[in-house]
Amino acid sequence: MAQRNTDIVPTVDGLAYGGDYNPEQWGREVWDEDVRLMRKAGVNLVSVNIFAWAGINPAPDVWDFERLDAVMDLLAEGGIKADLATSTASPPPWFSQAHPETLPVNAEGVVLNSGARAEYCPHAPAFQAAVVEMATRLAERYADHPALAMWHVGNEYYRSCLCDLAADAFRAWLQERHGDLDGLNAAWGTTFWSQTYSDWSQVLPPRICAETPNPSLVLDWRRFGSDALLRLFRSEAEAIAKHCPDKPITTNLMVTGNFAHLDYHRWGEHVTGPNRLVATDHYLLPDDEIGWPEQVAFGADASRGLAAGGPWLLMEQSTNSSAWRRGYFAKRPGDQLRHSLSYVARGSEGAMFFQWRASRYGAERYHSAMVPHGGADSRVFREVEQFGAWLRRLTEVKGSTVVSRAAVLLDFQSVWAANTPGQPSADMDTYPELRRWHAALWRRGVTTDLANPEWDLSGYEYVFAPHLYLLDSDANLRAYVEGGGTLVVGPYSGIVDRNDHVHEGLPGALRDLIGVRVEEFVPIPKGDKVALDDGIEGETWSEVAHAIDAEVVASFEDYPHTPAVFRRERGRGEVWYLSTRPVALDPLFERLGVAADFPDAPERLELVRRRHEDGRAYVFAINHGEAPAPVPVAGTDLLTGEPWTPATPLDPGSCAVIREA
Ligand code: GAL
Repeated sequence: MAQRNTDIVPTVDGLAYGGDYNPEQWGREVWDEDVRLMRKAGVNLVSVNIFAWAGINPAPDVWDFERLDAVMDLLAEGGIKADLATSTASPPPWFSQAHPETLPVNAEGVVLNSGARAEYCPHAPAFQAAVVEMATRLAERYADHPALAMWHVGNEYYRSCLCDLAADAFRAWLQERHGDLDGLNAAWGTTFWSQTYSDWSQVLPPRICAETPNPSLVLDWRRFGSDALLRLFRSEAEAIAKHCPDKPITTNLMVTGNFAHLDYHRWGEHVTGPNRLVATDHYLLPDDEIGWPEQVAFGADASRGLAAGGPWLLMEQSTNSSAWRRGYFAKRPGDQLRHSLSYVARGSEGAMFFQWRASRYGAERYHSAMVPHGGADSRVFREVEQFGAWLRRLTEVKGSTVVSRAAVLLDFQSVWAANTPGQPSADMDTYPELRRWHAALWRRGVTTDLANPEWDLSGYEYVFAPHLYLLDSDANLRAYVEGGGTLVVGPYSGIVDRNDHVHEGLPGALRDLIGVRVEEFVPIPKGDKVALDDGIEGETWSEVAHAIDAEVVASFEDYPHTPAVFRRERGRGEVWYLSTRPVALDPLFERLGVAADFPDAPERLELVRRRHEDGRAYVFAINHGEAPAPVPVAGTDLLTGEPWTPATPLDPGSCAVIREA
């Protein structure tokens, strides 16, 4: 999918560079040093006021902007722009004390007290009013401030609360979705276990109950939670836009790892478009099966999808270890440069970090920073300076876009549905599976989008649906295949409808498109494998499946001895169906003829092209391998200013950005 080129990139000169800046943790003398070091490192944007509610509004009806004024003025004098946050992600203790009903309640009915952060109930009217008031006051005061580049609403929305206010809000949301109680009872299948509701007051959030809860309820609760937080975000964004209509508004989403708390695609519609900007945070998983470069690529490619062609920005990552990872991982020299550049290669309009200066106190005192506890005379800060210098040389890349030939389908509602209670296998987890396929394509040298199954897919050569458990209708996928695309569907897909009811006739919504009938599920115990007659092995899942109108490509040698891989031509395209989870994906890609974006590129040489509408193109090259690798393009390396030929070797661990001749 091509990115749309728009003028609304973060209003900073060049690509954005910086991080969360929390000067409230330091004395004034440190601020001057901060600005000096920021300038030295080429920092041009910092996120301020993220957790500063207690300073601005220290008591009911008391407002004090002196410190924020001073910070904003200092940044303006230093030529550094502010991504000004509304500070509403963490109400101070006085607020919780004055409005105890705003404290969140968990599924066990326990009130989560103040003392950490994000202690709020998204459904509490007092909190909802307070955040709009805060956003309004900030927008009135700073709309025309010379340091202001953009607005940052809240921080990493994810909070859920199951209190009585939440129950009321849930009921109202359900009434909109399902109409009357008959509609709700039908959608939730409440004839099962005598759950039929006769009055709305009986409908509750998924609080802890005696046995397995109703999965349709659990799924609707996830949708409701995402919508409620989106409403909160929009209320602040609209308040800001009234006073400051011309600056981008963003919030930092977390589409990158395993953090599917929100329906980020639905959110995407509200953080793209005029004066909105998609921003994303990414903290790597140290103990994951998937390597760091692959994780970075997944996060970036998923974020690009959210932006639907518009600009987007990596808002947070770490220079080194993360406090909440118990410090047992540290980035190796150069990782920070490679990760940041990979993000920019994949479309980010800059690279930002959490945080500028390491905190001396608080829960994140051991979280890495751009200026670590070791000070500016450190490897980390030298790399920070180096990346700043690179970004200045890459200014002309700003506004260029990435086009992918392949997509992996990601639907957050399907991810949630596949995790509802009562599943036949605990190991069919969607997000890790999508990341596994995406990583395998990365290793093959294919830049792959993460696309929603309802989006226009016609531009892709290949669309992979490794695990699309919830699917209401196959219409969009059918149009893609009939139009000439190649669709590959993994097992246990198309099984349930939007209410999490099993479709009649498996595999439900996909049965007609793939021409296959599934008779029985045969989950495979962890560690076991099943052999197929073409040499491929499957794990986790298998099915007793029969071809109705499809060619059998391979069958199970072991039980269930039925066909395992199917192929069917349909219209101008083709669709493949796998009734098991292939242990290795490369043999499948070979068979499909999936070629690398840059043929003949060596393994673990990451190559991504960004292109301007006027034809100027840049190849980003990052060598994650152990040996020097030639990059098969000609032009000029913007990082060094030196000419580049297809024979020029790129050293292990090194990077180049080649403006193509
Ligand atoms: C993010 C959060 C930051 C900081 C960071 C540490 O999720 O937005 O405020 O806590 O994690 O990794």
